[in-house]
Amino acid sequence: MKTNKIKKCLFPAAGYGTRFLPTTKAIPKEMLPILTKPLLQYGVEEAIEAGMDTMAIVTGRGKRSIEDHFDISYELEHQIKGTSKEHYLTEIRSVIEKCTFSYTRQVEMKGLGHAILTGQTLIGDDPFAVVLADDLCDNEGKSVLTQMTEIYAKYPDCCIVAIEEVPQEDTNKYGIIAGELLEHNLYKVYDMVEKPDPKDASSNLAIIGRYILIPEIFKVLETTPAGKGGEIQITDALLTLAKQGKVLAYKFEGKRFDCGSVDGFVEATNYFYKKA
Ligand code: UTP
Repeated sequence: MKTNKIKKCLFPAAGYGTRFLPTTKAIPKEMLPILTKPLLQYGVEEAIEAGMDTMAIVTGRGKRSIEDHFDISYELEHQIKGTSKEHYLTEIRSVIEKCTFSYTRQVEMKGLGHAILTGQTLIGDDPFAVVLADDLCDNEGKSVLTQMTEIYAKYPDCCIVAIEEVPQEDTNKYGIIAGELLEHNLYKVYDMVEKPDPKDASSNLAIIGRYILIPEIFKVLETTPAGKGGEIQITDALLTLAKQGKVLAYKFEGKRFDCGSVDGFVEATNYFYKKA
């Protein structure tokens, strides 16, 4: 039976992470820690908090440590059991217990849209969330994904993208939307452009790494040509659905750190250190 509840979350994690070279030669960007926890675990915990239990991860070459992280290490469990250090494993044990993980590989890095299409084999024909783990979100109240699933429950025929206001000079780093206000903090999108020049950008409302997508997106992605940077862009595919009135943009409550950049990574580290 079809339900409007989102149970599946896709994590595209196949990118090269060039901004973190040389570390990302052998360590996936998604495994970089903020304090003691890798970025991807924060993302998975956010998805669990939003009621999801099926984690689908698109990986690539050199990303095996991701699979090992979300699995039991019997040797370690044996060594640490009953010692004062056991609490260090509490969070990851709970994550592993609460959900299932499946993986597929993106063989060629042809962009985020292509990575999401690669994940179709794990997602099937259900609505699903997408988390880009290098965008680390935090909120005192409901998590960003929880806020988005609540909106989706109200608009189950639409995709939802999370947006935030960015300085006008930064529009060329994001997908930028134009939309009409539907209700508080929620826009109906009529246009979206990937990384527009600041002088051409129709707004400063930037898409960040949280999406709720309807399965129709896969069909659109199959025929979406390469766009900006020669990559298949999720923004271009979403534009096709936006023209049919099927994309909403939600200005979320909370903080977002761009941990794919060194500045954002340091900022997040300081923020979580102070909070701990
Ligand atoms: P980014 O644009 O941050 O690219 O990807 P990147 O390769 O990870 O990092 P830089 O720019 O080289 O430093 C946004 C998200 O999309 C995923 C990345 O893993 C990241 O989560 N992605 C991107 C893929 O999974 N496959 C791709 O082909 C491209």
